Amino acid sequence: MVSRVIPVDPFDLVIFGGTGDLARRKILPGLYRRYCAGQMPEDARIIGAARGEMDDAGYRDFVREAIVEFSPPKEQNAEQIDGFLSRLHFIVIDAKGTGGWSDLAALMRDGVVRAFYFSVAPGLFGDLATRLHAHAIADDDSRIVVEKPFGRDLATAKALNKVLAEHFDEHQIYRIDHYLGKETVQNLMAVRFGNILFEPLWNAQYVDHIQITVAETVGVGGRGSYYDKSGAMRDMVQNHLMQLICLIAMEPPSHFDPDAVRDEKLKVIRALDPLAPDEIVRGQYLADEDQPGYLVDCEDPASKTESFIAMKMHISNWRWKGTPIYVRTGKRLRARASEIAVVFKDPPHNIFGEQEDRRGNVLVIRLQPNEGMNLRVTIKEPGPGGMRLVEVPLDMSFAEALGPDAEDIPDAYERLIMDVIRGNQTLFMRGDEVEAAWAWTDPIIAAWEAKGDKPKGYDAGSSGPEDALMLLHRDGRRWREIRE
Ligand code: BG6
Repeated sequence: MVSRVIPVDPFDLVIFGGTGDLARRKILPGLYRRYCAGQMPEDARIIGAARGEMDDAGYRDFVREAIVEFSPPKEQNAEQIDGFLSRLHFIVIDAKGTGGWSDLAALMRDGVVRAFYFSVAPGLFGDLATRLHAHAIADDDSRIVVEKPFGRDLATAKALNKVLAEHFDEHQIYRIDHYLGKETVQNLMAVRFGNILFEPLWNAQYVDHIQITVAETVGVGGRGSYYDKSGAMRDMVQNHLMQLICLIAMEPPSHFDPDAVRDEKLKVIRALDPLAPDEIVRGQYLADEDQPGYLVDCEDPASKTESFIAMKMHISNWRWKGTPIYVRTGKRLRARASEIAVVFKDPPHNIFGEQEDRRGNVLVIRLQPNEGMNLRVTIKEPGPGGMRLVEVPLDMSFAEALGPDAEDIPDAYERLIMDVIRGNQTLFMRGDEVEAAWAWTDPIIAAWEAKGDKPKGYDAGSSGPEDALMLLHRDGRRWREIRE
């Protein structure tokens, strides 16, 4: 298999917050990778913009260090790094004032794609949008990329959408959810809509339930004060997990084009039932011998913010009525593991008689690490002793199946930034989608805030609070084990 890299059109990409953490860890190393892959045309340029004195040479040094720190050693090649750095420039800019804007205007070229990455606090989105227009830097074809968090509730998300809409059309606004850039997340669509095998069974008649797990081993230390204002619901569920639910549950779009896909996703969000309080479990990780607990990490001993959440969700439409979706995500759990498991019902009639511990068909789509798919099927246990059944996995590790191509799988940010340049919004959230997601989460958060709900403590390195296990046990089901 040969991977095909199609170079994008020439571009000027301005990264506001060009010296920030996201730029350093993800955006710039990601762009370097695309450069090495041959996807960047000769005359592409990347312009870092931020407060604080720096010139082109200083910025190149900064980016060199970022590449050395955040790119795998085997991808670091002195010549390639120099080639990439030669495309970089830096502008000192004051997002709230006048400084730097005319310099930026003078630097921009005509006839190339202009993209502006807002890797800054959401409070600055409006200022940047206004100034890009006031200085005639953005034209009708320019794109802006906005990072999460996109608001902290429906009201703030609406206000952000409004401020951006004053200067940019929806087709110019790229709201990033990096989960959509993950290769396996896109694979959800390929698996569902590129095969005849699954789709006929993909409904409440055949699917018993779905489990979505996004488990992390890291805590919130280092970003505790930010995290404490959001918690797992705002930080992970409203965006990343909601997107996974959409891709798993949506109807087949008529085309793989931005609005066809996003229309279908929106319908899923709008079909989500409100949650009853006993369908939600919130948790906070406790200290262990080596590391402090959540309350120390977030620097507020009275915090009621959740670092773990598990929920039983329901989609009220013809396809899914009656099939619950169990979702959980949390920090400091047993392993870093994200997966979606579609658990099918048992055959309607069992001709082999009762057998112990039968678990039936499960399709597991493994998002990270060890990306792959696994379908558990029932076969006969080998041997002469009658007809005993056993479940075996039809296992496909992408790394094995795709060989060296699997190593070239781009990181989520690489893929998404190239999509911005290509002008393809399919993997970006539309304004109404984000608002619908907040409209669903707002009352849930409001209910626990009104009640003063305190999350349950859970052991670091565990699978979350006991109550989360009960969420399935009481339905006669059980979570899959969290393991790498
Ligand atoms: C971010 C959240 O959006 O996603 C973090 O703010 C979380 O809290 C991260 O750790 C998880 O991303 P990934 O790609 O490591 O699964």
